[in-house]
Amino acid sequence: MTIAQKFTVDDREFAGKRILVTGGTKGAGEAIVARLSAAGAAVLTTARSALPDALSPKLFVQADVSTLAGTETVAAEVMERLGGVDIIVHSVGGSKSPGGGFAGLTDQLWQDELSLNLLAAVRLDRLLVPHMIEQGSGAIVHISSIQRRLPLHESTIAYAAAKAALSTYSKALSKDLGPKGIRVNTVAPGWIHTSASEAMVKRLAAHSGSDEETARQGIMDALGGIPIGRPAWPHEVAELVAFLVSDRASAIHGAEYVIDGGTIPIV
Ligand SMILES: NC(=O)c1ccc[n+]([C@@H]2O[C@H](COP(=O)([O-])OP(=O)(O)OC[C@H]3O[C@@H](n4cnc5c(N)ncnc54)[C@H](OP(=O)(O)O)[C@@H]3O)[C@@H](O)[C@H]2O)c1
Repeated sequence: MTIAQKFTVDDREFAGKRILVTGGTKGAGEAIVARLSAAGAAVLTTARSALPDALSPKLFVQADVSTLAGTETVAAEVMERLGGVDIIVHSVGGSKSPGGGFAGLTDQLWQDELSLNLLAAVRLDRLLVPHMIEQGSGAIVHISSIQRRLPLHESTIAYAAAKAALSTYSKALSKDLGPKGIRVNTVAPGWIHTSASEAMVKRLAAHSGSDEETARQGIMDALGGIPIGRPAWPHEVAELVAFLVSDRASAIHGAEYVIDGGTIPIV
């Protein structure tokens, strides 16, 4: 089933829009690329690995955006191939830290989590936002996480701290860019059913010597449960992002939208 079949999509809504989505070959990023492409946008996406055979976005840049050089490559390709940018969705992110809590988090792991989950967005914005300012319009979404408010301690302390910094950065950026015609918002997902979240389940099971079902339940317990009874699907996250970067959300700015099935238990 395609994204377009799941929700009704106006296939002209983003016609003429030039969009960068980082990390768009898997998970939520892949769904965001599909959703915005289905609505008529020219979408350029990135990943470290070569483009999987099953995917065929016309615009793809292979680069590691956790490095300064990688972001410079991506920004240069965006300008070269799209001729400018109207919308940026910073979807890239994730954690590869092992279980074991704070003690297992080496300095290198902290650096890696901050580079991927915070600095990739900071650097790409610094490179591309001046073009948006020149044109006097644009929309940016930073994909954070509910862990910025509800951090888990078993393996994702550094990831949660990096996402907290990303959300704070996004809010500060919105204050600067709002008067210049550029909207900036944050989306904070809870658990999304992706290959990355399943890989985390496997890592935690391996670390604790248990099975995957026990590890999955451990995450649910640590989160305090998910009231709707399931993680979100990537296409549900994509739908929220598509709304936020569209003109339908023209007065929504400097906000954070949580999509977690009710996981955060407080107001
Ligand atoms: N999954 C969840 O439960 C969950 C929950 C809350 C928030 N989030 C956030 O939602 C966003 C998407 O997560 P996801 O789980 O859908 O991601 P995912 O399935 O792991 O996909 C990550 C994408 O980013 C690319 N990527 C990873 N590292 C990269 C790098 N250094 N440079 C360039 N590309 C890179 C991957 O391709 P390559 O591997 O080929 O590079 C892939 O296309 C992230 O910001 C994540 O933190 C996810």
